[in-house]
Amino acid sequence: MRVARIACPRCWQELHDAGRNLRCDGCREVYPVARGIPSLLVGPPATWEELIRTLDWEMQRHPWVVLKMSVAACTWLPRARQRLLRSLPIAAGDLVLDHCTGRGGNLPGLRRAVGASGGIAAFDLSGYGLAHALRTVERAGWQNVRLQQADAHRLPYLSKTFDAVIHFGAWNQLASPERALEEILRVTRPGGWVVLLDEGIEPKLRRTLWGSLLQWANPLFGCDPPIALLQAYGMRPEVRWVVRGMFYEVRFRTPV
Ligand SMILES: C[S@@+](CC[C@H](N)C(=O)[O-])C[C@H]1O[C@@H](n2cnc3c(N)ncnc32)[C@H](O)[C@@H]1O
Ligand SMILES: [Zn+2]
Repeated sequence: MRVARIACPRCWQELHDAGRNLRCDGCREVYPVARGIPSLLVGPPATWEELIRTLDWEMQRHPWVVLKMSVAACTWLPRARQRLLRSLPIAAGDLVLDHCTGRGGNLPGLRRAVGASGGIAAFDLSGYGLAHALRTVERAGWQNVRLQQADAHRLPYLSKTFDAVIHFGAWNQLASPERALEEILRVTRPGGWVVLLDEGIEPKLRRTLWGSLLQWANPLFGCDPPIALLQAYGMRPEVRWVVRGMFYEVRFRTPV
């Protein structure tokens, strides 16, 4: 079993268990832990409260948003997720980060891929999402799946920790994709895999009735994959469109 070492999101020194908290030996910051989930946010709680409330609210209505898109989506989207997870470049024994895990929808598929010998760290800002994910982890009894409350712009992990970083579904809305990418590149080991998937219709479908309907239901479907950004950071991304051309999937390996 592998477990990601947690680092202080202020100074990236490793954190140590201090009873009900985690403590940083570098900057002396103390981070609270509730029901086994450390809250690893930088700055006073008031800075986060409103953003977390908004994300909690979005996470609560997420199943209804999917339902609104179409009743059929409720049956084929979960199946599509399983297919996508099976196609990921992850092997048994890998240590994987589920980036912006939300309600933990990726966790069963990722746990199947890494097995008992690997490990998963999964973080999100939404306490609601994490509580849901925690129920899945506790019911299954997975010791090697650990959850953290954290911000994608300041990841609480040591550098070069993960064999793969998997992100489904928040890229188009991040305040600074540049900063989030820098953090992903920091925590991925050299030669590790990064997979980013989010709403974005395949260009040839954009002007079809289906494409127009999707963009009307959710303008985020008009987003493009972050190819230029990745190339600006020296990455060589491969892009493909998945789930009937509704989502882009970008994957690349970090340089060795
Ligand atoms: C559409 S959901 C996708 C969740 C999950 N990956 C899935 O596939 O079901 C997007 C998630 O990103 C989270 N999120 C948005 N901005 C974030 C940030 N800056 N740091 C951490 N999580 C964030 C939201 O709370 C939400 O849970
Ligand atoms: Zn610190």
